[in-house]
Amino acid sequence: MTGTNPDGISSPALDLQRLPKHIAVIMDGNGRWAAARGLPRILGHRAGAEAVRRTAEACRELGISALTLYAFSWENWSRPSEEIGQLMDLLEEFLDREVETLRKNQIRLRAIGRLHELPPTVLAHLHDIMARTSQGDRMTMTLALSYGGRQEILDATRRIAQLVREGRVQPEAIDEALFSRHLYLPELPDPDLLIRTSGEQRISNFLLWQISYAELYVTPKFWPDFTKDDLYETIRAYQQRDRRFGRTTPADPAVASSGSTENGACG
Ligand code: FPP
Repeated sequence: MTGTNPDGISSPALDLQRLPKHIAVIMDGNGRWAAARGLPRILGHRAGAEAVRRTAEACRELGISALTLYAFSWENWSRPSEEIGQLMDLLEEFLDREVETLRKNQIRLRAIGRLHELPPTVLAHLHDIMARTSQGDRMTMTLALSYGGRQEILDATRRIAQLVREGRVQPEAIDEALFSRHLYLPELPDPDLLIRTSGEQRISNFLLWQISYAELYVTPKFWPDFTKDDLYETIRAYQQRDRRFGRTTPADPAVASSGSTENGACG
């Protein structure tokens, strides 16, 4: 089936009525992409930044409402300080370069993670760009930075424990909906599709709570080689899956998840 979205983008074989609302990506393989070419790792990350730009553009063209990218994990702090510094510089450069494109395309930039651990200049850039794109209502692009799924769950638990200590929440009132509201970005729906590049079949501490019912797609391609066509292929594969959410028949994701969270999660 061929469909054309409101912006006139033609996407062969994609059912534009059944697109994932939220796509999350573990962008892996930058280092190996560079090594295979005898290049320094940072050039792999630079090529990875281009793949970020392409993927965001493709999602926006299709009308996908949320894209979340694992840009720097909590565990990445244990990389050599030189590589961390280069990644932070690249992030600043990317934000500066892309801000006008984000604004023009009404894309809102957001971030999740222990953001206070980022270098102050990066954090200032991030806050600036988040403010300047805050009116974007066509797509939300979220960067996971200094992010770990276990750390997010721990941070939510600490906040809830504090509320219990203050007598503002009763322990019996803690359910999935309340817990979800204390995650970093509760208003984002859960990802429908989680893509990982470079062939590794791991979750690597990404969105542990939110991916309960996400469809997983692993491609052997390194992230810098990931193209718009690769994205379309992942969506085609997603559209062939039966999403049952623990039931015996395929379920409407909106219905299936409405009992488990209050944040409008779509499965
Ligand atoms: C994993 O590849 C990727 C990262 C640790 C960082 C991801 C960063 C980018 C895609 C570029 C910058 C991002 C933005 C948003 C501008 P790896 O280094 O672990 O690769 P390897 O497993 O092959 O060594």
